[in-house]
Amino acid sequence: MNEFQVEIKNQLEKFRLNKIEPFMEEDDHNENFRMEIFTELGQLGFTGMGTPEAYGGAGMGLEDVCLALSEIAKSSIAYAVTISVSSMVQTIINEWGNEDQKKKYLPALTSGQEIGAYCLSESSSGSDAASLKATAKKTEGGYLLNGAKMWITSAGLAKTYIVMARTGEEGSKGISAFIVRDGMEGFTYGKKERKMGWRASPTREIQFQNCFVPDENLIAKEGEGFKVAMSGLDKGRITIGSLGVGLAERALDEAVKYSLQRQQFKKAIFDFQGLQFMMADMATELEASRLLVFEAAKQFDQGRLQQKLASMAKLKATDTAMKVTTDAVQILGGVGYTSEYPVERFMRDAKVLQIVEGTNQIQRVVIARCLKKQYQ
Ligand code: CAA
Repeated sequence: MNEFQVEIKNQLEKFRLNKIEPFMEEDDHNENFRMEIFTELGQLGFTGMGTPEAYGGAGMGLEDVCLALSEIAKSSIAYAVTISVSSMVQTIINEWGNEDQKKKYLPALTSGQEIGAYCLSESSSGSDAASLKATAKKTEGGYLLNGAKMWITSAGLAKTYIVMARTGEEGSKGISAFIVRDGMEGFTYGKKERKMGWRASPTREIQFQNCFVPDENLIAKEGEGFKVAMSGLDKGRITIGSLGVGLAERALDEAVKYSLQRQQFKKAIFDFQGLQFMMADMATELEASRLLVFEAAKQFDQGRLQQKLASMAKLKATDTAMKVTTDAVQILGGVGYTSEYPVERFMRDAKVLQIVEGTNQIQRVVIARCLKKQYQ
């Protein structure tokens, strides 16, 4: 780590231990997101890390962003994922939006005053995102949005929504992307989902009923919405991988510390080879994931965008997070299964990392397609 990275890591470690960790068990139980924590992270410069300074961001490279997110994820996946998804919204506006859109929407997002949400999935189009059915019909001065989006991270809390809707033919080429604001007429929220994990981060359905969105809120050109959505995910998938790294690191830390002090059969359970081999595998898989995530981020920073590597990073790091958190619960045994220790929460939080931003089966589809292209 360079000096800057050590500085961010130390600053975030202090922040999460003082400001996030003491409330996490309770907030997970009560499904409570503390906006003041997010705002404070914004004041420290961590809610617009990858966005250019011209729009209030910190202009950091993806490697540094991943390091920061994995540090936050050690205490809370909820705040880490809120930043990660809000950052994906910023990336989309910054890379595909026009100057007016950047000036209008980015500063509130980068400063942490507002949160962004990404709306692609629908009840009948999850992995097959190009089959989405929500429509945006051209009308005078704008579009009328109709339909619903499912499983939207931060819905209800967020003010700026990137919504993919159909403006044309079936398939990927008939999709456009829009900026939709909380409070627009015809835009309502469905019920808050009750989830296994990520409980402090709200997930909701959103609905559109003749919701008028002005022309100026169209991102890029009509028909480019699928590319807009997919390109956001290229970066987003690497950051989701970094969340997996942070979560796995914390779970391993809990498992090693516990096993060194827990005595059974007159010795620390760490000294049983069965557990040593488990922890050696956990540490090895964690290190492999970290190397892959940071290599993917580094190549991204060097302008060598690699979809294959981004998908590999997401796949490996989130499968590892699932395995490592599950093994941590096993090592802690009975107490590991209770909320006396945080590992059961980590295990619940890890599960959805294998599902969001493209299931790990979809990551394999992307990797296989890249391989085919490479060899054809
Ligand atoms: N960047 C730019 N363009 C891209 C692209 C990318 N990463 N990926 C695909 N495209 C382009 C293709 O080049 C193609 O364009 P042309 O026709 O001009 O060549 C077009 O988009 C269609 O691409 P495909 O033919 O590959 O599309 P497909 O229908 O076969 O789907 C898929 C590909 C990889 C399966 C895609 O549908 C996918 O990733 N599905 C998973 C959906 C997903 O990740 N959802 C996440 C939900 S959001 C979320 O979880 C966030 C949250 O809140 C936590």
